[in-house]
Amino acid sequence: MREDAVTREPLDSGTAHSARVYDYILGGKNHYRADEAAGDAMVEVWPALPVHMRANRAFMHRAGRYLAREKGIRQFLDIGTGLPTSPNLHEVVQETAPDSRVVYVDNDPIVLNYARALLDSTPEGRTAYVHADMRDPEAILDSPDFRRTLDPDEPVALTVIGILHFIHPSDDDHGLIQRLLDPLPPGSYLAATIGTADFAPEEVGRVAERYAAEGMPMVLRTHAEATAFFDGLELVDPGVVQVHKWRPGPDDEPVRDADIAMYGALARKPG
Ligand SMILES: C[S@@+](CC[C@H](N)C(=O)[O-])C[C@H]1O[C@@H](n2cnc3c(N)ncnc32)[C@H](O)[C@@H]1O
Repeated sequence: MREDAVTREPLDSGTAHSARVYDYILGGKNHYRADEAAGDAMVEVWPALPVHMRANRAFMHRAGRYLAREKGIRQFLDIGTGLPTSPNLHEVVQETAPDSRVVYVDNDPIVLNYARALLDSTPEGRTAYVHADMRDPEAILDSPDFRRTLDPDEPVALTVIGILHFIHPSDDDHGLIQRLLDPLPPGSYLAATIGTADFAPEEVGRVAERYAAEGMPMVLRTHAEATAFFDGLELVDPGVVQVHKWRPGPDDEPVRDADIAMYGALARKPG
């Protein structure tokens, strides 16, 4: 990233933030005491939270590999990227296709501060970082970095992983996905994970209460609500399933269904 593309915002280290809590629970280093306290309180109410978060991350890796290897996708728009925890999406897809291009998007100032680590592309490929809010799709699609990095005539995989539980129906959640997909050509894909309380309602409900108490209200969706994000698209087998059941590989951590509060799916834009 060019230095002038980085607008550093003051960091609020006294308030927990989802990206930093996630980093803390995943064993990363980019968080503050408020995030540790929030994370500890959440793990106390649901000890499976780290397993659940790792399974979400592993889905992202498998979906990225599948898109690059099996579907020949070379362009990715990743919204709600989070703090750089290797391997990031560009590392996964550039391993298969070094010429892959990835645009990362997040609205957290601390993610922006660490964005340089996301921009460590292969020479053949390219990565870019857009500091924007998913609730403003046009800010993403009209950004110079998006336009410079991705070819509008070639398919793009829109990856929305571990973020939709922070996007409320009152924000027109489905409309946002639609607006992001609209300009992408047929043959593009949507990969998403969607938080749910279907498998451990009490425990996940308590985690949601903790997040809400920390100022991060969360939306948990049923299978039907999760599936509705893929309306009008062609779901790839096995459809909308808990993330650990989506094309698991031999290296994936074995987990119990009750420990995974996330649906995941991949679908193709027809046409
Ligand atoms: C739990 S992390 C997921 C990180 C990564 N995608 C993964 O699954 O490993 C959620 C990320 O979404 C970002 N986020 C939350 N609401 C957002 C919004 N409205 N616009 C852009 N990013 C958002 C947070 O800042 C955080 O980095």
